[in-house]
Amino acid sequence: MTENNTISMSESELTEKIQTGNLKICVVGIGRIGLPTALSFADSGLSTIGVDINKSLVEMINEKKFPLKDEPGYDVVFDRVINEKKFYATTSLEEGVSKSDVVILSLPTPMNSKHIPDYSALQSVGEQLHNCLPKGTLVIIESTVEPGFIENEFIKIIQGSENSLQIGTDFSLGVSPESANPGQILVDFQRLPRLIGAIDEKTKNLIMKIYKHVFTVDLVPLPDCKTANAVKLTTNVFRDLNIAFINELAQIFEKAGIDIMTVLDAAKSKYNFQAHYPGPGVGGPCLPVNSYQMINFAKNYSFDGFRLVEQGRKINEEMSKHTIDLLEDGLNEAKKTFSDSTILLLGASYKPDVKDIQLSPIEDIIEILRQKNSKIIIYDPYFKNSEIFGINVSNDLVSSLKQSDAMIIVTAHKEFHDLESSFLKTKMRTPIVIDSRCLIDQHEAKKHGLIYRAIGRGKL
Ligand SMILES: NC(=O)c1ccc[n+]([C@@H]2O[C@H](COP(=O)([O-])OP(=O)(O)OC[C@H]3O[C@@H](n4cnc5c(N)ncnc54)[C@H](O)[C@@H]3O)[C@@H](O)[C@H]2O)c1
Repeated sequence: MTENNTISMSESELTEKIQTGNLKICVVGIGRIGLPTALSFADSGLSTIGVDINKSLVEMINEKKFPLKDEPGYDVVFDRVINEKKFYATTSLEEGVSKSDVVILSLPTPMNSKHIPDYSALQSVGEQLHNCLPKGTLVIIESTVEPGFIENEFIKIIQGSENSLQIGTDFSLGVSPESANPGQILVDFQRLPRLIGAIDEKTKNLIMKIYKHVFTVDLVPLPDCKTANAVKLTTNVFRDLNIAFINELAQIFEKAGIDIMTVLDAAKSKYNFQAHYPGPGVGGPCLPVNSYQMINFAKNYSFDGFRLVEQGRKINEEMSKHTIDLLEDGLNEAKKTFSDSTILLLGASYKPDVKDIQLSPIEDIIEILRQKNSKIIIYDPYFKNSEIFGINVSNDLVSSLKQSDAMIIVTAHKEFHDLESSFLKTKMRTPIVIDSRCLIDQHEAKKHGLIYRAIGRGKL
């Protein structure tokens, strides 16, 4: 066990401990965000332990195999810190925590099927920390939670029902809600300012000192944990809502024969316009969940009239149905039905160039197509040789096209950006293309005889 009393150190004592490489870090939850975070701490010279309940992930890491293949740059950092023995993983929280001065939590914060935020991983780890946290440990929560969760719930869990651990004396706590984008975490860690909030000024200053050592980006100190969490949610709900606005506009433009991409390109020329793009839905572990966290937060403070965010969610969630309506229109033109057609879904990830299907719109699209008895094929270069929602992913685009009566472009992976209409026309059994990401030149589509429908574009 370390002789740590990190929270009572002066800033100069902490600086010395950092500079001599004696500050020990434990990151709990070494998934998409936690592993790069742990690697960055280790690469700054601070010995770091990663804790995760996923035994096979821990084994893989300790066998020197880097698990995040779609996270460019971190493979090199991984090799370096493993070889320098600055990082290893364990499934034992007690082991990681007892050897560390600082405990960083990067645990999942999803929602359940009723859209209620699920903080069970944090709650469970909080209960365990109550029993194993060495005196004086600094705890930092990087997971996204709604404002107030830390103050009203999480601190009490670590303190225990009889307050046998006292915050400020036995441990201290702050937050640094993470905002990096999967697929570009190394780049984002070098450019996105970090939000820092804590239960008091002293703790905030200690966290700032540690993060300043590890990251080169600006740090944004905030008055408390709930304000830092409010900033994180505000940025993501802003995106979710703006996408909903564009998705609704897109549907009107389809009727009016106005191309949404032409509108957005021109609108960007105005200095204060920020473009968002339409699509078949908004997925991923962040945006949809964060909007529901915001709605839950408002309810917890008895604010029942949070209509805008709820409406935005509804619009984005209905886009998968709208995509299928466009498909139906295309099938009608070709005099085909859902049940006599094979539909190719191009791309499965919720966003381009990553291997991640968390809350991806493809799930709802598959569900509707199944109800309509269509045969479904999926092609996604990131998921070759795997199964998605019970469907084997095809390994070959051309053979998938040859068996298809219609194709829905679900994800704008870079591999799909150069798809030519002439190629699709010759390869597809029936050349119906539903372009939910506006990737294909619609004039070329018409010239080559595709039956083409797109979100945000009228029929030519
Ligand atoms: N992925 C993103 O795009 C992103 C971006 C910014 C912020 N975040 C936030 O970061 C947090 C982590 O998200 P993520 O995407 O890295 O999740 P993830 O699912 O990829 O990783 C979480 C890890 O925690 C582990 N875990 C779960 N319960 C545990 C427990 N009780 N003890 C130890 N380990 C446990 C899981 O096995 C997993 O490896 C979430 O709050 C999320 O909202 C995610």
